[in-house]
Amino acid sequence: MSSMSSKSRKTPPGWHVIGKHGVFPKANHDETARFNFLTNLNMHVAQEVMPGVQSAYEKRARPRFESDKGRPPATRQEVRRLMEADPYYQTWSSLRRNIMEMRQQNGRSLAYRQWDQLNQKAADLNSGSTQLQLDPALPLPRYVSAVDIHCMPGCYYTEYCEDDVSVAANYDSGIFVTTAGMLGKYSDGGGQAIVAWLHEQAKQGFKPKRILDMGCTVGHNIVPIAQAFPETEIVAVDVAAPVLRYAHARAKSLGVENITFRQANAESLDYADGSFDLVITCMFLHELSSTALPNVINETHRLTRAGGRVLHIEQPQFTDDMPLFEQFMRDWDSRNNNEPFWGTMHDIDVFALMENAGFARSKLSSIGLTAVVDESLFPSAGDTDDAAEDYGRKPAWHVYVAEK
Ligand SMILES: C[S@@+](CC[C@H](N)C(=O)[O-])C[C@H]1O[C@@H](n2cnc3c(N)ncnc32)[C@H](O)[C@@H]1O
Repeated sequence: MSSMSSKSRKTPPGWHVIGKHGVFPKANHDETARFNFLTNLNMHVAQEVMPGVQSAYEKRARPRFESDKGRPPATRQEVRRLMEADPYYQTWSSLRRNIMEMRQQNGRSLAYRQWDQLNQKAADLNSGSTQLQLDPALPLPRYVSAVDIHCMPGCYYTEYCEDDVSVAANYDSGIFVTTAGMLGKYSDGGGQAIVAWLHEQAKQGFKPKRILDMGCTVGHNIVPIAQAFPETEIVAVDVAAPVLRYAHARAKSLGVENITFRQANAESLDYADGSFDLVITCMFLHELSSTALPNVINETHRLTRAGGRVLHIEQPQFTDDMPLFEQFMRDWDSRNNNEPFWGTMHDIDVFALMENAGFARSKLSSIGLTAVVDESLFPSAGDTDDAAEDYGRKPAWHVYVAEK
């Protein structure tokens, strides 16, 4: 994992710098203090506690394994089974899990305290709009309803009352704790990076007129694209109604007029073949089941016009050439953060799926994109790193690009 001297470490900005909008929940002093405490605890655990996990592995767990078995561990799963019995690892892992649970507690109580007002604000902003298209009859995929992804109670989809947006308000307010603001004021560093990529593409003549975003959640990453290209027609789909209500209200309050938010399953959409110039996904693929993933990739191929592009931004891969210990650490979320497809997705050859869907191998490429954030609020150390545990290093993602 990355190392950085304590001298060069920076602390995250306060939670209050988050970009506000028409449905953003209001926080009082104690709620703000809790988010700030959790953000800094998260950083502390990543920077100061986590290095000890590697020492525990190298000095204690692996030598014991080698003396018992006469060989080193051969897979990340073997490292995991070994480390799950180690008290230092247990401590670090419990702290990390607890921070996530406390983030959810704080975000939920914040949203619930002003539940009626938030739902009303969203309903007012959404009222009469043709750009919010919900489908209450849409079946929720089993892999979405089976688990509260990253420990979010109610996941993305639960509605506790009519017009409910509470799960979305929790997600939007709490994500800062996990990212320490490294995704920017509006948690849109990925979308801003796509905007920069699109400006580069435009120089080569690729200027999409219709864009599809699959699995948009609250619209963090599609809104900056809509703002940068107001003439472009954008469709953003998600299976979950509460996040779409919130996304539409949020976008409207930020002055965005060119996104239609639609409740639909990206595995099978009712648009005609070749309807879009560009199809994007942002941190979406790793939350799909191994059945849904190829279906979604097939839909991206079908829906992209000839000459169009597909772009998937994903979490950095762990790859076979990495030390097993690093692969094991990067797979932590699979078993401890309710991300059941995280490890599975990382084991899948996404390019092979894209080729099966019909893309020519010669038209597939992999690029690195780095979060584009407001440097005055979120100073970066300048360089990027896949692991990005050290605050001050911008998240760098793995990006799959296809040309049809
Ligand atoms: C990790 S979030 C994506 C984050 C979002 N793209 C962003 O940029 O902030 C995953 C989202 O995908 C949605 N989702 C999962 N399966 C889906 C499917 N088959 N079709 C459409 N949306 C889906 C979930 O409801 C959730 O909102």
